[in-house]
Order: sequence, then structure tokens, then C-alpha cells
Amino acid sequence: MMETTEHSPEAAVSVHLTLNGVPVTAEVSPNAILLDVLREQLGLTGTKKGCDHGQCGACTVHVEGRAMNACLRLAVMCEGQAITTIEGLAEGGRLHPVQQAFLDHDAFQCGYCSPGQIMSAVALLEDRRVPGDVTTVREAMSGNLCRCGAYQNILAAIQDARLRRHGQEGGDDA
Ligand code: FES
Ligand code: FES
Repeated sequence: MMETTEHSPEAAVSVHLTLNGVPVTAEVSPNAILLDVLREQLGLTGTKKGCDHGQCGACTVHVEGRAMNACLRLAVMCEGQAITTIEGLAEGGRLHPVQQAFLDHDAFQCGYCSPGQIMSAVALLEDRRVPGDVTTVREAMSGNLCRCGAYQNILAAIQDARLRRHGQEGGDDA
């Protein structure tokens, strides 16, 4: 299915994305930020705006499989790229294992940081080169802030998801 959205008719640029597996064409202004295009043009409000300056991680999405801050990326830079947002993680009505682990471990309070935390965690767990010890995971997740201080449960959820996916190799001292 091809979707087309329109915005800022003057000097608009067509950007072609594969968004959560679906081809999408968005008409964007050349200086439009990916986060704003996702939320305001494409209706994907699961990706949150926190600081809007690359310092909180609330806006984390996957671009070509890598976790990135959508607030720091121009939409036009994403031409031809695959973008995954929190809305694209579940498959066939089943939550992604990291989403399920966050639920199982009560890894949120207000939930505002959760989409970004989960997107970063999924990218982290998919990178088999990154060791799974607690210190490394904390460091890898340090770009995702939680004003509610749910870090302990977030860490537990990530380590549980790691164990479920990779077995005991990833460290179990969360
Ligand atoms: S909103 Fe992008 S890092 Fe804070
Ligand atoms: S759960 Fe509230 S900011 Fe993290």
C-alpha cells in the first residue's frame, strides 16, 4: 500500500520511506525534522518529543536498523531508508519480546520515555557484538533518560528479554 501525505506546499520535497514495512511518500519542507514528520504528518505519535535536542532519547527510532534520535535528523536525509517506530515492533498481534518484558517487569511509571527506551533496547539486543553485562547495558542505554527513575526495572526488563532471546550468555545480574 502506498500512502502519500502533504505538508508545506511551498518548496516541498518528496521523501520516500519504508515506514514500519509500508512504502510511504511524504511531502516535507526541506528543513522538516523526522520526529515532527512522524508525529504530525504521518500520525505516529508513539515516538515522543522530550528535549528536542538529542539529549533524552524519547524520540528514538530505527533508521536502517540503527537506533537514532529522530529529533536530530532531517526527514530528507531519510530518502529511501527504512524507518521503524514503536508502532512497528509488534507482529501479528503479538508484542515484541522487549515490549512484553517491559510489561512483565513494570518498567515504566508515566510511560513517556518507554517507546524510546524500548527502541534503544531492541537495537541493543539485536547487536550481538555488544556484551550483555549490566555495566555495558547501562552505558549503552545512557542516552535514554527516565524522569520517573524507573531505571532498575528497565534494566531488569532488558536483561530478561536478552535471556529469553539469547539464553544465559548475556549475564543475569540485573
Ligand atoms: S526528543 Fe530527541 S533526544 Fe530528546
Ligand atoms: S517512565 Fe516516566 S519518564 Fe520514564
